[in-house]
Amino acid sequence: MRERIKSAFAKRFGQPPEVMTRAPGRLEILGNHTDYNEGTVLSVAVDRAMHVAAGLVPGQLCTLVDIGTGSERTFDVNDLTNPQKGDWANYVKGLIVEMRQRSITVPAFRAILLGTVPIAAGMSSSAALEMAMTLALSQLAGVELPWLEAARIGQACENNYVGARTGLLDQFSSLKGKADSLVYSDFRSLQVENVPIPAGTAFVVVNSMVKHNLTNEYNERRQACEEAVQVLQRVYPGAKTLRDVSPAQLAAAEKELTPIVYRRACHVVGEISRVAQGVEALASGDIVQFGQLMFASHDSSRENFANSSRELDMLVKIASELPSAYGARLSGGGFGGITVHLVQAEQAAVYAKEVADRYRSQSGQTAETMICTAADGAGLL
Ligand code: GLA
Repeated sequence: MRERIKSAFAKRFGQPPEVMTRAPGRLEILGNHTDYNEGTVLSVAVDRAMHVAAGLVPGQLCTLVDIGTGSERTFDVNDLTNPQKGDWANYVKGLIVEMRQRSITVPAFRAILLGTVPIAAGMSSSAALEMAMTLALSQLAGVELPWLEAARIGQACENNYVGARTGLLDQFSSLKGKADSLVYSDFRSLQVENVPIPAGTAFVVVNSMVKHNLTNEYNERRQACEEAVQVLQRVYPGAKTLRDVSPAQLAAAEKELTPIVYRRACHVVGEISRVAQGVEALASGDIVQFGQLMFASHDSSRENFANSSRELDMLVKIASELPSAYGARLSGGGFGGITVHLVQAEQAAVYAKEVADRYRSQSGQTAETMICTAADGAGLL
């Protein structure tokens, strides 16, 4: 990849790049929609990433060339006021805006991009682009960004420029991943730890190939969580976020909430508790229990948070019928996209094929499958 983007840059722009970076996509393993509720998540940075080769250019015009898709963008570095709805370049333009707000001057630049994270499937291709570009742009601007600041710039780009009120999970995972490890993030303390992945297991990603549009539904779910907190504060004045409410406290306050808001809160509070149980299961080497928590997480997405889909439910049900799967669930925002399956490593390839076959005969759709390994987080190439 390094050689490919380096030579593509030289060929296109007639000189070598000044900086090359790589930032991975992620899988959310346990803890769904908990990040913006100051909860906890277990995730993993995957061996699929965005690669960037970049260099400064005189004047004001920036050029982005994605050699994977053949798509190109040119824009004025001083005219970023009009995001084009749905355009991938927003994930870069928004970063420049956010960096400026933090007094970082980004000069005009040009970049070659090459990504291997499936787009809009739920594996954070956008965070991979943001983090690879943030690293590259901070180098070109001559500033050393602390990792948390880089993550916040990516999140602010999504929140303010793209219009999705996402949390910090995707950026944390892309920056703090480690080979053979999960990323355990606490979005209250903003502490991150790496937790070893049990030996003999693999993650199989099965893309339902039915895409989601995160923005509307996602923002609505976030609003329901905020509404829940506002009401719960009357009963539990100390509660600042859903992180402060235990499953028992929530159940005791059920009648205070509308049925929908109660179910949304049940999902988040339940997920935070499942992450804690998941960490314990991993510490005691109980993969079977961990897999059950993944299935329970998906059930809660379907029943409480309504962020699953017919296709995702079908894939998780198929997993529950196959003996080599420990667990499976939707991963990320939801509303379509991928499922992640924790399976016996030596069965992974056979398993992936079996799931795809059954999915085809049940849904008529052709799923894409990938066996993913845990990779190191973002860095210079
Ligand atoms: C998306 C968002 C994350 C997180 C997940 C759901 O990936 O970008 O911040 O909220 O959905 O857990």
